[in-house]
Amino acid sequence: MMYSGSAAALAYTPEVAEATAPIFERVARVIPSIEWPIHAPLVADIQRLKRERNAIILAHNYQTPEIYHCVADIVGDSLALAQRAVDTDADVIVLAGVHFMAETAKLLNPDKTVLIPDQDAGCSLADSITPEDVRALRASYPGVPVVTYVNTSAAVKAETDICCTSGNAVKVVESLGVDRVLFLPDEYLAKYVATQTKVKIISWHGHCEVHERFSAAEIQHYREGFDNLVVIAHPECPPEVIAAADFAGSTAQMIDYVRSKRPRRVLMVTECSMSDNVAAEIDDVEFVRPCNLCPHMKRITLDKIHRSLETLEPRVEVDPGVAERARRSVERMLAVGR
Ligand code: 13P
Ligand code: SF4
Repeated sequence: MMYSGSAAALAYTPEVAEATAPIFERVARVIPSIEWPIHAPLVADIQRLKRERNAIILAHNYQTPEIYHCVADIVGDSLALAQRAVDTDADVIVLAGVHFMAETAKLLNPDKTVLIPDQDAGCSLADSITPEDVRALRASYPGVPVVTYVNTSAAVKAETDICCTSGNAVKVVESLGVDRVLFLPDEYLAKYVATQTKVKIISWHGHCEVHERFSAAEIQHYREGFDNLVVIAHPECPPEVIAAADFAGSTAQMIDYVRSKRPRRVLMVTECSMSDNVAAEIDDVEFVRPCNLCPHMKRITLDKIHRSLETLEPRVEVDPGVAERARRSVERMLAVGR
C-alpha cells in the first residue's frame, strides 16, 4: 500500500510492517489494524529522521495515539513539556502541540531549532489577550502582580511577573506571598484557583473553546446513564462542571488519577484524544467519552511532523527583546515547580 500524502514515496512494505510491529502493539487497543498501513511508513521514517537530525518530539497529551504513542519521545501536560524542554541535548525540538507550547520551548532553548508542524495551531485562550491588555490592567491595578497562564503568546508572557499552568496555578499564586493577583487570561481557571486559595483573584474573560462547551447537565446525563461513573475534569471547564466532577486537575494530573486509582468507569471531561491515549495503555478501566476536539491540536498530524523533520520548517522564532522578558516569567514558574 502506498501512502498518498506529501510523503508519497513511503510504502507499507514487509520491512516496514516488521519494524513497526512492536510500535503497533502500543496502540492496538485504540487504532484498528486496517489503519496501521497508513501510519506505519510515516512512523518508521519519522524515527529515521529523528536519528539523522538529532531531533526529539515533545507531544502534548491531546495528540492522537499514533503521535503520542508511536513517535513522541516525551509526552505530558504543558508544565511537563516546558520542564523537559530544558534538559534536552537534542539539536532539534519538534513540538507536537499548539503554538504557545512551541514558543515556550523556544524561549527555554534559544539556540536550538524548534519546529511546530503547523504554524496555525493556535489557542483560543492565547488569542483572548494582548500585551496592550496586560499593560492596561497593570495601570488599573498598580502594584498587583500579574500571573499569566502559559496558554498565551510570548509577547503577553513578556508583560507578566510569572507564568503558571493548570498543574501548578495554585502553588504559583501562593508563592508570591501577596493578598491579590491578576490571573490571566482564563476566567474559569481563575475561578477554580479562587476556590483553592485565600489570595484574591482578579480575572480576565478568556475561555478555552473546547472546555467551555461542557455543561453540568451533560455530566448529569452521563451519571444517570452509567453506574459508578467517576468524573474528572480539566480546570478550564466552567465552574458548574468542576462542581459536578469528582476531581479536577491538569491533563497530566487527570492521567495520573486514572493510572493510580483505576476507577472501574471514568469520564475524562477534556479533549477527546486523552481518553484514547490512556485507554491504549490501561485495559481495566472503561472510558465513557464525551468528545470535544481541539481543532488546533488536531492540526498536527504524522504527515506534517514528517514534513517538518524533512524540511526543518516551520521554525518558531521569538523576537530577542520579547524573549528575554518572557523567559524570565517562564523560568520563575519552573523554579516554583509542580
Ligand atoms: P495542560 O497543561 O493541563 O496540559 O493543559 C493545556 C491545555 O491546553 C488544556 O486545554
Ligand atoms: Fe487552547 Fe483549549 Fe485547545 Fe487547550 S484545548 S490548546 S486551551 S483551545
